[in-house]
Amino acid sequence: MAQVYDVIIFGASGFTGKHVVKEALKFVSPDSPIKTLALAGRNSTKLTEALKWAAPYHPDVPILIADSSNQPSLRRMASQARLVLNCVGPYRLHGDPVVDACVEAGCDYLDICGEPEFMERMEAVYYDKAVEMGSLVVSACGFDSVPAELGLMFNSMQWVSPAVPNRVEAYVQLESTKRIVGNFATYESAIPGYAPPPRGFEVEHQKKIGLWGIKLPSADASIIRRTLSFLAEYPSGLEGGYEDPKHAEKRATFWSQIKPAHFGVKMATKTRLGLQLFIAVGTIIGRLSSSPLGRWLLLTFPAVCTFGLFKKNGPTAAEVAGGSFKMWFVGHGFSDASRVSGEPDMEVVTRIKGPEIGYVTTPIILIQCALILLKQRGDLPNGGVFPPGIVFGPTDLQSRLQKNGISFEVISKSAISA
Ligand SMILES: NC(=O)c1ccc[n+]([C@@H]2O[C@H](COP(=O)([O-])OP(=O)(O)OC[C@H]3O[C@@H](n4cnc5c(N)ncnc54)[C@H](OP(=O)(O)O)[C@@H]3O)[C@@H](O)[C@H]2O)c1
Repeated sequence: MAQVYDVIIFGASGFTGKHVVKEALKFVSPDSPIKTLALAGRNSTKLTEALKWAAPYHPDVPILIADSSNQPSLRRMASQARLVLNCVGPYRLHGDPVVDACVEAGCDYLDICGEPEFMERMEAVYYDKAVEMGSLVVSACGFDSVPAELGLMFNSMQWVSPAVPNRVEAYVQLESTKRIVGNFATYESAIPGYAPPPRGFEVEHQKKIGLWGIKLPSADASIIRRTLSFLAEYPSGLEGGYEDPKHAEKRATFWSQIKPAHFGVKMATKTRLGLQLFIAVGTIIGRLSSSPLGRWLLLTFPAVCTFGLFKKNGPTAAEVAGGSFKMWFVGHGFSDASRVSGEPDMEVVTRIKGPEIGYVTTPIILIQCALILLKQRGDLPNGGVFPPGIVFGPTDLQSRLQKNGISFEVISKSAISA
């Protein structure tokens, strides 16, 4: 029988994939839930290069060949894995056969997708089969959408009964000591689902946190809606396949403290002028993405069309190292749940801070989700297709992220007048 690896990183040669390899290697050891690791992809030379880049000390990590257009190769890969970390995107083009192979093999699957349409389709198509096969499939285990999910829960927990939140607005503030740059595949993944606001960009000044914001096209709100709808169906969360009773109690207590609220996400900057770049890029993508010629222009000249926000070769090492984010959660609600009519009278502001979003924060989140999944498999649902919050919310993911440089803070709790 072929060797079974704890983790196989599929798409390890990609821009994000190689950062995921680097992060994963920090946790491979005989005492870790990741004892064995393999890299997979379609090109062994590129995979070997990625391994050398990630680990100049040349660890002995096997390389497996699998191509998303070759189902038998994916089945072979999945049959050798306890858990596949899929870093091959855009997911609408490459993801479906990988999920299919993992579900068929009964292995677990995590990805860093930010494409809501793909994730909703995977749930619709594979949910029942994944339950039957005992395959746990969780997308969006990256900056999309774990900070939004855990951040909303963290804000929600600050509303101590009888207080309840009504609406939580998140403001994403990207910062850099160099330039903010994203890799081409993220841009390519985002274009088909992008819809510009029908009445143009409405600029909001959020006085409390001193930021200007515009609505951000993001997967976060749709992922959170899915988590809240699972919660409506299972108010104590999802039962683990062979759950420790202590964890079952912890899970029920955790979810009893989470109060659903309306949620939205905005891109934010310190000055109104700072938003102009995002408005200009959003307008260009909105105008061009509706025609075949426009889409060709967008995909052929990404740096020109986005004023350098996205590049074919991605950010430089210095640009990755110089990046950071703050995600603010401004919650408005009521100090007394029995009096929820009228204007909110209470505000809770919380914040998550961390390093560069795409290639530092995302690998940290993905690998911490993988470690939890492998270590506490029995506490998690036996199988099914889920957003990350409903699966990892009641685990120690937040404290793990905090230990790895992603902080959660309460900024203020105050009464507000209408
Ligand atoms: N959640 C988040 O916040 C977040 C953050 C970062 C990235 N992402 C997402 O991650 C995905 C990857 O982004 P990236 O910038 O790393 O892209 P990338 O640099 O283009 O890498 C894509 C990877 O997919 C592989 N690949 C392409 N076609 C394949 C096929 N037919 N069979 C097997 N492998 C194939 C490539 O292999 P070769 O090397 O052989 O070409 C490469 O390893 C995107 O969807 C992006 O949106 C999400």
